[in-house]
Amino acid sequence: MYIQRTKDKFDNLKGGDPIVMGIESSCDETAVAIVKGRRVLANIVASQIDIHRKYGGVVPEVASRSHTDVIIPCIDDALTHAGLGLDDIDCIGVTYGAGLIGALLVGVSAAKALALCKDIPLVKVDHIEGHICANYINTTLTPPFVSLVASGGHTAIYKVNGYNDHEILGATRDDAIGEAFDKVARMLGLPYPGGPQVDKLAKQGSPTIKFYKHDKGVNPDLSLSYSGLKTAVVNYIHNLRQRGEEPFAPDICASFTTEAVDLLVDTTLEATRRTGLKTIALAGGVAANSYLRNKLKVEGEKRGFEIVFPPLELCTDNAAMIAMRAYFSAVENKNYADMSLNARPNL
Ligand code: KG4
Ligand code: ZN
Repeated sequence: MYIQRTKDKFDNLKGGDPIVMGIESSCDETAVAIVKGRRVLANIVASQIDIHRKYGGVVPEVASRSHTDVIIPCIDDALTHAGLGLDDIDCIGVTYGAGLIGALLVGVSAAKALALCKDIPLVKVDHIEGHICANYINTTLTPPFVSLVASGGHTAIYKVNGYNDHEILGATRDDAIGEAFDKVARMLGLPYPGGPQVDKLAKQGSPTIKFYKHDKGVNPDLSLSYSGLKTAVVNYIHNLRQRGEEPFAPDICASFTTEAVDLLVDTTLEATRRTGLKTIALAGGVAANSYLRNKLKVEGEKRGFEIVFPPLELCTDNAAMIAMRAYFSAVENKNYADMSLNARPNL
């Protein structure tokens, strides 16, 4: 009943684009944003990086508590920034998976409470689909296109057939590429989160070390793998240290980045060729990597593909992308949720 009521409410909406609030709390950023169509009216991100840095990674229990502390202030801030009140919000989109269970529950509970109290339609959002939708913000991008999602928990290539139709073409068989970036950074003693640090150091080094031989090139099933490369880098650094030598971090970063990214780019280009599509949209935290952005653009354009990627602040976790994903669900009457919505850590 609730679902039908919210659907009617959206159908009856008059005058212009709906205003959608997005709520994101799947990992270590508490984020609330408001969009109107493809325009961002507010984009608040409360990062927990400083809290987790001393542990060298995200501590789930600490993350949940921190989300609880700041979720309401973030909602207030977003409304203030947009110059709106809760009564102006036409729809609330919330990340319900994948992510840390305790962290997700904070956002889901807040979104359900707002939806129930103010009778606002609620839409459930898959975090990864949210990353893809960062590419719609302030652009005219329309499906179909291919999207490469490279983040801390996910590495996959999608065929985006429609705003609500994401078909997987290939994915990692083990670790995510961002996880490998973070592990290499930790081994080198770089502060959390490691990806941006590896990116910075790689620019000062040369890719002279061959860690792991991908002599077979692109896998026919378009699958990827990062655990072997990650272990190879770890072993390389261990071996040097056992001999009393300290690794030269810039060369390690440059060599690792090249190996990690080149096969990802080749696989994405092959996947795109097979679809016959001409546009590739990059997404996820690792989409902020300068080598990946440049390599995909150069190699893609050589083959006549158009390469698009979001601005840096919309690559890493944010709620504008979650609101954008919810917007496209709502306008096609998809993914509405009721008060039984629960967090799905392994979505
Ligand atoms: O999408 P995201 O913010 O969170 C997840 O959904 O996982 O991605 C975070 C990941 C982390 O592994 C982080 O180190 C990586 O993205 N990352 C980068 C860069 N910026 C963030 N990796 C490589 N180069 C970067 N510039
Ligand atoms: Zn993410």
